[in-house]
Amino acid sequence: MAPFRESIRRIARKMETCEEWIELERDLREPIAVGSAPPGLALRWAEKRDLFAINALEGFVKETDFMAAALDRGDRCLLLEDEDGIQAFAWVTFTDFKLALWYTLSLAPGECYLVYIFVHPYFAGQGVGTYLLGRLMTEMRDLGAIRMISGMYRNWEVSFRLHSKMGFRIRRTLSQCRLLNIFPTPPRAI
Ligand SMILES: CC(C)(COP(=O)(O)OP(=O)(O)OC[C@H]1O[C@@H](n2cnc3c(N)ncnc32)[C@H](O)[C@@H]1OP(=O)(O)O)[C@@H](O)C(=O)NCCC(=O)NCCS
Repeated sequence: MAPFRESIRRIARKMETCEEWIELERDLREPIAVGSAPPGLALRWAEKRDLFAINALEGFVKETDFMAAALDRGDRCLLLEDEDGIQAFAWVTFTDFKLALWYTLSLAPGECYLVYIFVHPYFAGQGVGTYLLGRLMTEMRDLGAIRMISGMYRNWEVSFRLHSKMGFRIRRTLSQCRLLNIFPTPPRAI
């Protein structure tokens, strides 16, 4: 290779930052251990009136209108609340999900995708995430889903442990890179 082209490539590699995205799957036909309900927290499906509070929990990641449209399309969100409000939620979709500029996760019939699970830090490490995910899995199974897909960056250790504990297995690993931390390059399977 011409030395000039090689040195350009070397500089480009130095400017590139990459993150590993792990895609996991769980066969919902296998037994699901839900565990006991956390004391003081009640479970219910989210409605549109909850979206502002759900969004505020995670610092307004998405427009509330975007989430309302997703609920209209059939997304479901299971939440746990107490007298102070919503303390945890888990959002699931049945439609193809755009994960990055270049990558849309396609869902086969019977598959659903766990878009996000969140537990308020006050309740962290007390089994709330385990219970919520377990209940979401049984609810999805009862609605006819046979597989739940999920995904996370490799360094989201607590989330990875929660998923592993609940029977999720790695389906594939993708590497998402950005040039100069700005321009995403297409994810590639590792
Ligand atoms: C990931 C998250 C939902 C877990 O909720 P949680 O209620 O704390 O989870 P649980 O208490 O049920 O713990 C589940 C498992 O996670 C692991 N875990 C929990 N807290 C941990 C900690 N502080 N350090 C290391 N591992 C931990 C343990 O393996 C635990 O199972 P075990 O107690 O039986 O060993 C929560 O930490 C969260 O909301 N994180 C921020 C949002 C996020 O990253 N969401 C995931 C997107 S994919």
